[in-house]
Amino acid sequence: MLNESIYPKIDLNTYQRETKLKDGTKVLLRPMVAEDQDALYEFFKGVARDVARYLRDDVSSRFVVEKWAKNLDYEKTLPILAIEDDAIIADATLNRRRSGWKHHLGTVRIFVHRDYRDFGLGHLMIKEIVDIAYKLGIEKLIAEVPDLNTAAIHAFNRAGFYRAALIPNMVKDRENMPVDIAVMMKDVRPPHDDAYDYDF
Ligand SMILES: CC(C)(COP(=O)(O)OP(=O)(O)OC[C@H]1O[C@@H](n2cnc3c(N)ncnc32)[C@H](O)[C@@H]1OP(=O)(O)O)[C@@H](O)C(=O)NCCC(=O)NCCS
Repeated sequence: MLNESIYPKIDLNTYQRETKLKDGTKVLLRPMVAEDQDALYEFFKGVARDVARYLRDDVSSRFVVEKWAKNLDYEKTLPILAIEDDAIIADATLNRRRSGWKHHLGTVRIFVHRDYRDFGLGHLMIKEIVDIAYKLGIEKLIAEVPDLNTAAIHAFNRAGFYRAALIPNMVKDRENMPVDIAVMMKDVRPPHDDAYDYDF
């Protein structure tokens, strides 16, 4: 059994945190709920085409956002929203698998509304995801970032991620152009010595 004084647990159904940006703006961080669907669609509607081409999913599609809201399962994908005055200003997700050889890993994605960039929100949210990952028992975090995205690489570096690999032409953007990906990693906590439950 894990020692809970060393590895505190987190209840994702009640978790929320109030925080402040560099300019003093108060922001609430909490997991997405189904009722956030319309606000999340509005949030992504503001994403410029040249930025959206580098995102994994087509966030301009109402269908995609509806699907996320309908199929919320924090055990697989935990979306953490940053909220200011009832509006969503950033979205970070932690993806994980509950079984198999990657069950100890989490994948992080983050998107901050352009009006709220460079106020430390990206850094705060990455740190929050690291803290949540620790409490969930995740051992390593991974972020796959386009190598040219210096702001993102900087934000992950500041939160203690290191560049584990550079994979040339790993993904294709929405215009079918190849994009080099920097694989950023962070060790969140040492591997525990309980027997692993392999389930292939
Ligand atoms: C990457 C992203 C999340 C950063 O969010 P943010 O709220 O602006 O992040 P922060 O303010 O905490 O930090 C940004 C840092 O990058 C720096 N930065 C910004 N543009 C930069 C650039 N072109 N080159 C180098 N550093 C840059 C800022 O000065 C700041 O540095 P500091 O923390 O030392 O002051 C945001 O730009 C974003 O949503 N981008 C689009 C989505 C994306 O690329 N996601 C990452 C892939 S998962």
